[in-house]
Amino acid sequence: MYHIISIRDFERRDLDYLLDRAQEFDTGDYRPGILDDKLVALLFFEPSTRTRMSFATAMARLGGRSIGVDSVEASSIVKGETLADTIRVVGGYVDAIVLRHPKEGAARLASEFASVPVINAGDGAGQHPSQTLLDLYTIRQSMPIDGIDVGLLGDLRYGRTAHSLALALSLYGVTLHTIAPGGLEMPANIALELRERGMEVVEHSDVQEAIRDLDVLYVTRIQRERFPDSASYYNVASSYRITPDHLAGVKDRLMILHPLPRAGEIDPAVDRTPYARYFEQASNGVPIRMALLHEVMK
Ligand code: NCD
Repeated sequence: MYHIISIRDFERRDLDYLLDRAQEFDTGDYRPGILDDKLVALLFFEPSTRTRMSFATAMARLGGRSIGVDSVEASSIVKGETLADTIRVVGGYVDAIVLRHPKEGAARLASEFASVPVINAGDGAGQHPSQTLLDLYTIRQSMPIDGIDVGLLGDLRYGRTAHSLALALSLYGVTLHTIAPGGLEMPANIALELRERGMEVVEHSDVQEAIRDLDVLYVTRIQRERFPDSASYYNVASSYRITPDHLAGVKDRLMILHPLPRAGEIDPAVDRTPYARYFEQASNGVPIRMALLHEVMK
């Protein structure tokens, strides 16, 4: 059975294969109704707009259907049911489970109890592999990923999109530039893991210091919901914001990406520049998730 839990489980050729499949779905090169007898459960125990809706859209485009739970409050979790039990039960209803959960490791745990494939749609500060695939896909539409310079800006401590993406980029010979507010740096174990995978990781204190060298600037939101208290959040809130002033002298091909939602990190005036690619990035969620859903259920 094929679960999609962490970028750590993938080799480069697996990622490239999924990107190629997504490309086929993107160009309409597939049999209509290819998943028409399939049902997926979307279990989202944390807020989501893009991830949930693009999985539902992808399933509908493939002719399949989805059912789901949108909140902890609306499920038997409030009655004290364990995730393991929920997963065992739901696995008896559907052909695959897409899970978003506030606890790191939840998707891995779910995969151990599920009788059907599990796709991790975000586990706390852990991993977000389907987001990473759509990030890679968006980069690859503009330039080969090999050997480029990517800046990761923002909450690199709690940001699962940053963790997943950095691990994936380490398979492509990318130089990683990390730019994080004090206290929100990439966890030491992940930074070490990246270097052990042969990645060059350069730390910067300021985005201006790095931006002219970058091919991709990946901006992330401060993950307010993961802070232990509101005081520690307010210490770093609003500590960075990309404006058109930052973009003087950057490479022509610079792409600014953001997993979204944004909460002030990118000035809307940047949207009108040719560098802004985050809405296109979001729309790439559909072909990527078509490829993933098809792969685990075919
Ligand atoms: C991200 C997430 O949930 O990790 N959102 C998404 O899936 N596009 C990023 C975020 O919430 O900041």
